[in-house]
Amino acid sequence: MNYANKNIQRMKPYCPPLNGRREYTGLNLDFNERTIPTSKKVLTKIREYLENPDLQMYPEYGGFEEKIAGYVGTDESKMMITNGSDQGIDLIFRTFTDVGDKVVIPVPSFAMFFQCAEVRANNILKIPYNDDYTYPIEKVLKEIEKGVKLVVICNPNNPTGTLTPLEDIEQILRAALEKDTLVYVDEAYYEFSKVSAVTLLDKYPNLIVTRTFSKAFGLCSLRIGYVIASEEIIGEMLKIRGPYDMNMISYIAAMEALNDIEDLEMYVNEVMNIGKPILEEFFEENGIKFYPSGTNFLFFAPENRDKTWQALKDNGILTRKKNGLNDEPIIRITIGTSKQMKQVINVFKKYIINS
Ligand SMILES: Cc1ncc(COP(=O)(O)O)c(C=O)c1O
Repeated sequence: MNYANKNIQRMKPYCPPLNGRREYTGLNLDFNERTIPTSKKVLTKIREYLENPDLQMYPEYGGFEEKIAGYVGTDESKMMITNGSDQGIDLIFRTFTDVGDKVVIPVPSFAMFFQCAEVRANNILKIPYNDDYTYPIEKVLKEIEKGVKLVVICNPNNPTGTLTPLEDIEQILRAALEKDTLVYVDEAYYEFSKVSAVTLLDKYPNLIVTRTFSKAFGLCSLRIGYVIASEEIIGEMLKIRGPYDMNMISYIAAMEALNDIEDLEMYVNEVMNIGKPILEEFFEENGIKFYPSGTNFLFFAPENRDKTWQALKDNGILTRKKNGLNDEPIIRITIGTSKQMKQVINVFKKYIINS
């Protein structure tokens, strides 16, 4: 007897290829993570806490939402902290969608959107991204016109890296508001892209944004995310979030990360203004097709995907195999520091190009 709900029985678990990553001695450029350790000040704060810990007590998050709200530029009543933004995604689907509800999730995109929609037994409308991996705004507007519960905009999109301009997001929000449709914008990579829909929050009560400390802040192991939306939306979501879903060490780390914005800016600058142009220039010079990215990873199509992925792996660079819209083989590579990108280029020169 399988006791699971019918829709759960039809699902497969989301199992990203994590096994052995920590033992890999090369560069992990496969999960869009920060490629150097997190801020030293954060590590010091965690050590200090562990010298005199109170782990026997339930966590308290005094001042945290206020502090994040200051960083985001909004009011703390519009904030909710979550156990990674993955939990925020789950809460959005659980709070606002029901069995059979139509939800628009353009493809390809981040696996958790589909998983959370499948758990709710939603009717998922998988709208393909445009051929250049820009957001399929016209097609999405048509679906909104017909009536949908929720529209997802992953900005920048994982795995393609492409950015949707704020004007397009506003166009969707406007159309959606008329039809009582929610618009969910995932901003996991906001610190790199510096494009945010949060400025539209006061005008559009149908907007929900999620962000995370996992990427540019380099704290993905500690699972800290947050949701930004109207007070009413946050109020509904708070009804189903547990009171202790984020642990005490994560709280201490995230508070300190927000005290060390200098470290964040140093890393983002290194990746976006130094490491990224180095790799892009190399790809351009060598005719390797890649798509414009607004963030810390590139979606590129080498001549022989599997051979390239293997040669990179064998020579100290772990990347991620992906498929494009028409199933074309693609690699997604995380951008790191200039030194790390030069290491990648050396492997290309020595083992991939002309070999
Ligand atoms: C687009 C996007 N959203 C959300 C997440 C989840 O991040 P978190 O670690 O905050 O759960 C990721 C992680 O890769 C992501 O790429």
